Amino acid sequence: MTLAPLLKAVSTEGFAADLHHALAQSQRSISPKYFYDEQGSALFEQICELPEYYPTRTELALLRKHAAELANLIGPQAQLIEYGAGALSKVRLLLAQLERPQAFVPIDISGPHLLQACAALQADYPSLNIQPVVGDFSRAVALPAPAPAGGQRVGFFPGSSIGNFTPPEAQAFLAMTAEQLRGGGLLIGVDLIKDPDLLHAAYNDSQGVTARFNLNLLERARCELGAQFAADGFRHSAFYNAPLQRIEMHLLSMRRQVLRLQGLDYVFEAGETLHTENSYKYSVAGFQALAERAGFRAGPVWTDAHNWFSLHWLQAPAS
Ligand code: AVI
Repeated sequence: MTLAPLLKAVSTEGFAADLHHALAQSQRSISPKYFYDEQGSALFEQICELPEYYPTRTELALLRKHAAELANLIGPQAQLIEYGAGALSKVRLLLAQLERPQAFVPIDISGPHLLQACAALQADYPSLNIQPVVGDFSRAVALPAPAPAGGQRVGFFPGSSIGNFTPPEAQAFLAMTAEQLRGGGLLIGVDLIKDPDLLHAAYNDSQGVTARFNLNLLERARCELGAQFAADGFRHSAFYNAPLQRIEMHLLSMRRQVLRLQGLDYVFEAGETLHTENSYKYSVAGFQALAERAGFRAGPVWTDAHNWFSLHWLQAPAS
């Protein structure tokens, strides 16, 4: 496993600058990438195990059911790039079927979490060439040289993390990956539009894990940046915005209060929020149209019996 040349830490300065920028707006909003410090990544792993959070188990079942077909599309000696890699549990289902992969390149913003997951994967696949990249996968990070002749470069983007981008951002991200993956393809998981009650439950779990995940962003600001605010001043809020086909997560101010960040005071009125995440839901056709606008050719799609979740193979342009 080689890391040093590709290590690109996600800086505390970047978090501070983005948080100041967010707090200075009238409609306050910050990127969900700041959820994923060590604690946030661990909380996200817990979310994936929750009974209400259907995406993880539904996608895992699809990967298990269609693993042989997927491995066939990916082909031998592939260089597999995972965007936003997390715990690396899903990719194991592919790796178990792949023929002599040339390299596995997981990209994730949470360095310690990624390295831990890579070490566990390496123990199970001692001969696998793992080249982790710590960085923001939504930007063009430096990748190792492409797969040699005989194999293709294939992207893997599970978990419907594409839904955390706005549709124009999603299109820009897909256009970037279409370029990176020229001659290969992208296997991507996309959450589907469904009964709003199911969506509401998935983001308002009864154990309060999603609430802790959301509130951890403020905790992170307190620990890393010395932000000062009352512990009980904010609450988790998540709801389905039907016209925009997205779950919105916010940190809701319970009363008029001041949040102090590095000597600057930001006033929150009661009911004002810091918007922390969007999670867009798509129809299969709507997502395929978006992918085609980004330069991919839509290929096979797999869905579960309830039509809750979809897995898409997207063919990148020829190299
Ligand atoms: C990572 N991402 C796809 C998750 C989602 O469902 O949008 C993050 C999440 N937020 C709350 N629960 C899970």
